[in-house]
Amino acid sequence: MLSPEDNELLTSIGPGTPMGNLLRRFWLPGLLVAELPAPDCAPVRLRLLGEDLVAFCDSNGEIGILDAYCPHRRAHLYYGRNEECGLRCVYHGWKFNVAGQCIDMPSEPPETDFKQKIKLKSYSTVVRGNVIWVYMGPTDVMPEPPDFEWSFLPSNQRTSIKRLQQCNWAQAVEGGVDASHVSFLHSQISGEARLNFGRKMLNVMTDDRHPIFHTEETDYGILIGARRNIGEDNFYWRFTQCLLPFYNMIPPGLLEGDTDTRTAPYAGHAWVPIDDENTWTWSFSASPSEAFNDELMDLQGGKNGMWGPVDDDYKPLYNQSNDFGLDRENQRSITYTGIQGIPNQDAAVQESMGPIVDRSKEHLGTSDTAVIAWRKRLLKMVKQLEKGIEPSEAANHDSYNVRSVSMISTRDADWRKEIKKLMVGLAPEQRPPEKL
Ligand SMILES: [Fe+2]
Repeated sequence: MLSPEDNELLTSIGPGTPMGNLLRRFWLPGLLVAELPAPDCAPVRLRLLGEDLVAFCDSNGEIGILDAYCPHRRAHLYYGRNEECGLRCVYHGWKFNVAGQCIDMPSEPPETDFKQKIKLKSYSTVVRGNVIWVYMGPTDVMPEPPDFEWSFLPSNQRTSIKRLQQCNWAQAVEGGVDASHVSFLHSQISGEARLNFGRKMLNVMTDDRHPIFHTEETDYGILIGARRNIGEDNFYWRFTQCLLPFYNMIPPGLLEGDTDTRTAPYAGHAWVPIDDENTWTWSFSASPSEAFNDELMDLQGGKNGMWGPVDDDYKPLYNQSNDFGLDRENQRSITYTGIQGIPNQDAAVQESMGPIVDRSKEHLGTSDTAVIAWRKRLLKMVKQLEKGIEPSEAANHDSYNVRSVSMISTRDADWRKEIKKLMVGLAPEQRPPEKL
């Protein structure tokens, strides 16, 4: 449990809040490239960390992320005209470039220098891995974006998709680091083997439902090992990566006959706060050794794929208004929840807690080791930043080049040594050229 004060510290992310200040030290996944598909396309409304923004792609293909409200009379620039290298407010024609500088003020006399004095708040962007990343923090401490392997892979070896989640970001992240729920929330009553990137997985997750958890502090966050028994001699290990402040990587399922997942495709998430009560849940996947086929591209990255279905605004079709599609008959005989789809199962329980869960009322057990470790680390980072100590995790961007892994090892093997060999992503010199 957390004190009400620490709960507030963990969950409030608006401008000027301690957690808001911390999250602004990291690059955030902001938009999919497909949301700004071409120069001079329609601008997009964007809300991140409690700030209303507008995103646009100018005539040169440069991306601007600006304060949403025109500094003249505060009209929303979403209604603006995106033309000739700038976004023009339709109220009185004031025009802004991607840096936020006012470059035209046709409603004022031409001899005035008023426009030079008008600059909108603007944020830095980087395009990587089909994602437009945004940095909303102080420019003097701006780090490089995190070095995720998936973000450098060719476009047919990775996917990215997002969906709206209607709760605070922290309870969504906690779902991502809580590896023990997988044996329940996402399990099948029918005992049928689950598929992983189209391949049949070894069914050990439901045979041993109380794994032993090990957490290790790393430069990027926390390595979470869940150890299950296989027979008398072996352990089945699943290593989930928790990458600060809000990413996870889910270990691939082990296939029948394999003892580790070495080059297998893996997936992960980011939970980016829209405001205190809404979150963008991003899902990424990566196939480091070969291209996904069309079916897997759609399954992993399509709006109707496994992280969907979502509407044109990335809102899930199964949501609180329809009980996430809960089917009691299915719950009796087929799936543990009666809800179809992993993201809908996650959203149902996480949103059911209310927009901001009261952590002073919970009762945590040994299977919550990783949740406790994540909270502790975040709260420590927040409190250090309050004292002026910048988060080293943001600066250690190259440490994010890791994979999540599953493996079988003998009970006497040194698991730390084994995992270190398997979890390293492609080194920068091994990466194919960056593509959008
Ligand atoms: Fe889950």
